[in-house]
Amino acid sequence: MKPDEGTASPDTENLPVPKMGIGSKRDVIRRVVSPKEMDRYCRDAIMGTTGIDIDHPLEGQKPDAERFRMTIEHLCRDIHERIHWGLYNGWGELQRVTEIREIERLGEEDHEIFQKLFLHGLKHEPHVFGDKYEDQVVKTPDQVKEWIRNNHAVGIKFNYKDQEGATKERLAAIAFLRTGEGAQSHIGYVGRLYVHPAHRRRNLSRDVLLHLLDHAEETGIEQIEGWVTTTNTSAMEFYKKIGFRKSGNTRVGAVIISGTAYDWDPILLIMDEYRKRRPDL
Ligand SMILES: CC(C)(COP(=O)(O)OP(=O)(O)OC[C@H]1O[C@@H](n2cnc3c(N)ncnc32)[C@H](O)[C@@H]1OP(=O)(O)O)[C@@H](O)C(=O)NCCC(=O)NCCS
Repeated sequence: MKPDEGTASPDTENLPVPKMGIGSKRDVIRRVVSPKEMDRYCRDAIMGTTGIDIDHPLEGQKPDAERFRMTIEHLCRDIHERIHWGLYNGWGELQRVTEIREIERLGEEDHEIFQKLFLHGLKHEPHVFGDKYEDQVVKTPDQVKEWIRNNHAVGIKFNYKDQEGATKERLAAIAFLRTGEGAQSHIGYVGRLYVHPAHRRRNLSRDVLLHLLDHAEETGIEQIEGWVTTTNTSAMEFYKKIGFRKSGNTRVGAVIISGTAYDWDPILLIMDEYRKRRPDL
């Protein structure tokens, strides 16, 4: 059993995980779940039903044996109550209000929403990045602002209404393009590409990357480099579709995240080749 898979009793351990959401309350399996697992179920169920991500109130709390000895049944009720509450108190509206805005270059004032989405990525899909959650979560606002200033960070925002009805904004997608220095000023480095799971497969990444490539064109960059974790097939598919190719040997054990080593594949896009493909993308 993986560390975060809870303490399932032997007789229920191999039962399939119920797909939850409105109407599936009867798909109840009794077994003890871990806090992480519970958090994941809540997120998946709420996000899957409403397309909305919420910060589960239990997130970040220290595991407490009594508190977390809950059953999935209890959890389902919790989720249903939340969805019900949400639909009648603003979250349903949020789905409609979730207007995806134009892609834009981010400024210092966006440091909070940028960091929020980036940390979400580092927490939920740590193996796809070269940074560690623990290092990034302690960054001060000034450090994040400086990073945004120096790295041509872009993003796609959306508006939502909070529980009091106030309009707020968040980021659905982010990425950056850093230009090389000196003899490498013809090279752009792309990274921190992350789309919140609730907004995937809607071409947000494509829009973000094409925007960065237009910027590369304007600034005379001739080639774009990056890397993809070898297990990250969705990102590799995505980059290939834009015109990137694997450009060298796999770097074995390039990063170690939570004790696991991951390999990287370098990727490359030649702007001359991209220009020809651009109209079809
Ligand atoms: C990879 C990722 C950035 C793609 O973002 P996205 O906004 O969902 O991608 P898009 O909707 O723009 O997809 C464009 C194309 O990329 C390819 N693609 C994207 N996600 C894919 C997936 N999961 N499986 C296969 N192909 C995929 C498809 O060809 C897709 O076109 P289609 O939807 O018409 O088939 C997103 O899944 C993500 O944030 N992953 C975690 C972070 C990450 O891996 N970042 C890259 C680090 S190198």
